[in-house]
Amino acid sequence: MGSLWHGFADMGAVTASGPFVVTRGDGTRIYDDKGNEYLDATAGLWFTNIGHGRTEVAEAVAKQLSTIAHYSNFGDFASDVTIELADRVAAIAPVEGSKVMFTLGGSDSVDSAYKLARRYWVEQGKPGKTIAVGRTKAYHGMHAAGTSLAGIPLNAEGYGEIIPDTETVDWDDAKALLGLIERIGADKIAAFFVEPIIGAGGVYLPPDGYLAEVRDICREHDILFIVDEVVTGFGRIGGGAWFASARFDLQPDMITTAKGLTSGYVPMGALIVSPRVAEPFFAGGTWFRHGYTYGGHNASAAAALANLDIIERENLLDGANRLESDLAQALSPLAELDSVAEVRTGLGAVSAVQLADPAKAMAAIGKLREHGVSGRAAGQGALQVSPAFVMTTEEVGELADRFAAALKEL
Ligand SMILES: Cc1ncc(COP(=O)(O)O)c(C=O)c1O
Repeated sequence: MGSLWHGFADMGAVTASGPFVVTRGDGTRIYDDKGNEYLDATAGLWFTNIGHGRTEVAEAVAKQLSTIAHYSNFGDFASDVTIELADRVAAIAPVEGSKVMFTLGGSDSVDSAYKLARRYWVEQGKPGKTIAVGRTKAYHGMHAAGTSLAGIPLNAEGYGEIIPDTETVDWDDAKALLGLIERIGADKIAAFFVEPIIGAGGVYLPPDGYLAEVRDICREHDILFIVDEVVTGFGRIGGGAWFASARFDLQPDMITTAKGLTSGYVPMGALIVSPRVAEPFFAGGTWFRHGYTYGGHNASAAAALANLDIIERENLLDGANRLESDLAQALSPLAELDSVAEVRTGLGAVSAVQLADPAKAMAAIGKLREHGVSGRAAGQGALQVSPAFVMTTEEVGELADRFAAALKEL
C-alpha cells in the first residue's frame, strides 16, 4: 500500500524503488522478505549490541508485560523493575552517586539534558546562562533542542530558528570553544554538548587530547559538560569501558544515553545526572517539572536488565574491545581501493569506510546489498561499520571481504 512514511528518506525515491524490507534477525545477520541473508554492518542504527534474536530479552519483556506492563514513574509512583534498573545504571555510571532519569530514546535524553541544564542554572541564581553550545558535524537527535544544537546544517534547514539560544563551534578544535567563551562570556553559556565520537555526522574520532581539553575548559568556566553517549554508551566505545566518559576520564555533569541500554529490543533512553546537577532537585522543595508517560516503562526496564545481564555474562565489553583491533585490521586494506578515500577505525566498535566520492553513497549501499551486507552511509559518504559486539573475528573478515567485492564494482 505504501502508507509508511520512513524517517530520513526521499519518499519519492523509496516509493519508486520499493522499501528494503527486513523480516528477521539472528546474531549478526538479518534477512529480507525474499529470504536473502545479509551481514549487519551497522547493528541496526548502532544499537543491536548483543545481536539479533535473543529470546532471553523477549522472555523478560513477556514476563513483565503479563505481570504489570506499566503504570507510572511520576510523583511518588515507581515500578520495582525501573528502580532496579536505575540502581544498576548508576552503579556502572562513571560518576559516583549519579541519578538516572529514563526517557524513550536519545532525542528525549538530549532535550531532557538541555532543559535540566537551564533549570540548574536558574536554581544557582544564574538565569542568564541559557546558551547551549554544540559542534559542527554533531548529531543530537531530532527534538527541538537536539535539532538546534547539532552541526549537520541540512537537518536544521527549512524550519526557521527552532531554539535561538544555541551556538556551534568546530568539532575538532578546543580553542574554538575557548574563543566562543571569550566572545560571548561564560556567564551566558549553560552547557557544552559533545559526542565522544562524531557518529551520524560521518564517524570521526576525536583528536588526541581533545575531550580532556574541552572538559577542562568547561570546568574552568563553570559550563556544564554534557557527553552524548547515545552511540558510545553501554560498551560500544571499547577499552572494556561501559562509557566513553570512563574511557577518557571525562567526569561529565550529564550523560545522555539510549540505544545500547536495551540493544534496541524495545525503546528506552536514560539521562545520567551527576550529583552536582541533581543535588538542588533532591534537597527538597524544588522540582524538575519534566517526565514522560513511558519514561522507565516496565517492559523496557525488563529488556534493559536482560540486556545488561547478557553483556556481563558474555563479557561483551571485551567483545567490543576486540572489535577495535579486528575492525582496524580487516578494514584498513580497503583504503587501497580507488573508490575509498580512507578508513577510520580505532575506538571500540565504531568505524567507517570513507568513499572517495560521497555522491556514490547510495550506489555503494546498493552494491553492499548485492554482496550480502546491510550498510548505511553517515555524513558525507562514510559507510558506517558498527557491528554487534558478538560479531566474531572471522565474521569481521567476511564483512571486509564483502565490502571489498562491493566497492571494487563501484
Ligand atoms: C549521538 C546521538 N544523540 C542522539 C541521538 C538520537 O537518538 P534517537 O534516534 O533514539 O532519538 C542519536 C541517534 O542516532 C545519536 O547518535
